[in-house]
Amino acid sequence: MDKRVEIRQITEKDADNLYNLIEKNKAFLSTWMDFFEKVDKNSVVYSIEKWKKSMILGESFEFGIFLNNDIIGMVSLIIEKDGNLADLGYWLGEEYTKNGYATEAVSYVLEFAFTFLSLNKVQIKVHEDNFKSQNIPKRLGFRYDAILREHQRLHGRYVNLFLFSMLKREWNELWKKTN
Ligand SMILES: CC(C)(COP(=O)(O)OP(=O)(O)OC[C@H]1O[C@@H](n2cnc3c(N)ncnc32)[C@H](O)[C@@H]1OP(=O)(O)O)[C@@H](O)C(=O)NCCC(=O)NCCS
Repeated sequence: MDKRVEIRQITEKDADNLYNLIEKNKAFLSTWMDFFEKVDKNSVVYSIEKWKKSMILGESFEFGIFLNNDIIGMVSLIIEKDGNLADLGYWLGEEYTKNGYATEAVSYVLEFAFTFLSLNKVQIKVHEDNFKSQNIPKRLGFRYDAILREHQRLHGRYVNLFLFSMLKREWNELWKKTN
């Protein structure tokens, strides 16, 4: 895969661009992640500070996805230390979709999770109707594990999520085959 995007920590300098990206894409993002409806400039600045602290503590890793130094989305890992595993999430501004950028960014975070953090497992939970998002774990070789019934509240309704996972040994096996 050609490297087109990069992932890196989001700093205070990115606050305006991140806020503008979210503001422009509020309706698109809120379809599947309704907390975006409440995002404003202050909450972006507060979140960047919170993400920095969580990263230092090793509790979560929130990366910006950058294309030619412009922020186009985010990918995050929330660590569950007891299980040595993490939950992975992602989003893109709508104009940057349909290019493979999210799949590429997720593959970099998987390499970080399995090689740098040495996690045993990464899981992705996706709304049962969010087919574009389901394509990402499927494309990267995740296994479909289960349906999590009424696992999330979205727009005031409980919704089912599909659970996908990848183990460290599976990632290493895939990585060996493709490199
Ligand atoms: C989920 C989301 C990131 C998926 O976006 P996406 O553009 O489909 O994903 P990618 O960036 O990986 O792009 C993949 C698409 O680009 C296409 N593509 C075009 N050129 C490509 C290239 N050079 N390389 C790879 N893929 C390419 C792929 O065929 C694929 O399209 P398909 O799904 O129709 O087959 C996006 O829809 C989103 O942010 N949604 C709102 C938030 C959300 O739902 N987040 C997930 C919550 S679980």
